[in-house]
Amino acid sequence: MNERPSNPLNLPASRFLADRFGGFRPRVGLVLGSGLGFFADERIRKVAAVPYGDIPDFPRSTVEGHAGQWVAGTAGGQPVLCMQGRFHYYEGYGMDQLALPVRVMRELGVETLILTNAAGGVREGMRPGDFMLLSDHINFMGANPLRGPNADAFGTRFPDMSEPYDPGLRFLARATAADLGIPLAEGVYLAVSGPSFETPAEIRAFRTLGADAVGMSTVPECIVARHCGVHVCAVSCITNLASGLGGEALTHAEVAETADRVRSPFADLIAGLLARLP
Ligand code: HPA
Repeated sequence: MNERPSNPLNLPASRFLADRFGGFRPRVGLVLGSGLGFFADERIRKVAAVPYGDIPDFPRSTVEGHAGQWVAGTAGGQPVLCMQGRFHYYEGYGMDQLALPVRVMRELGVETLILTNAAGGVREGMRPGDFMLLSDHINFMGANPLRGPNADAFGTRFPDMSEPYDPGLRFLARATAADLGIPLAEGVYLAVSGPSFETPAEIRAFRTLGADAVGMSTVPECIVARHCGVHVCAVSCITNLASGLGGEALTHAEVAETADRVRSPFADLIAGLLARLP
């Protein structure tokens, strides 16, 4: 078991979790998106599981398909701290509440953050069930999680975002996918606030702007992680064609169904990437 973190535990949630985790010190953070929470049950050898509701002053997850707990344990040989269920802007949380779990992970020792999400395919040729490694993002949420007084303890006022998704981690993700024979697209994720799905005109506009996929998460967590020096890798599960690109109306059920259909290769990809981390 790893030693206790040397970082100061300034956040009450960090102290609470450190206490629950005993001597366990995570190195890798993992955020499981819509329909992808099974990874924690199937692939993490659990040391502890702590429902968000147990933690004082911590938000709770309200979306169907999100369990809403921290899972600490090992996966791919790495000590992992996993959010089985994330918080979304569309649930009504403030951006500060979205920042909190990432900072908690940082305080507990996380150096690398793997973000996963369900997303709509915008780029021509993208199909439900495809995976896409994020090369970059466009923040179209209309808000930034770092707005307000700077959290100096975590990072600088104006953090660089020229490489939001770590090139070395992307290389490892591509190598993992190639070894496993799992096709892995790479592209730009555009984040909207939701919760309504997009209109066809919005999707046409987003494509013109350079988006390959669209979703309602990930970008705030990436920004907060980069602010505090955590390296980020993100993978989208393309669960549906974006609005206007397929014949059908979009539903959350379709998102969950597709995520479930590809659970096995998805879990292999994430576990394989964890195993390759230095
Ligand atoms: N749009 C926004 N978010 C999503 C989508 C989508 O089409 N699919 C899954 N999450």
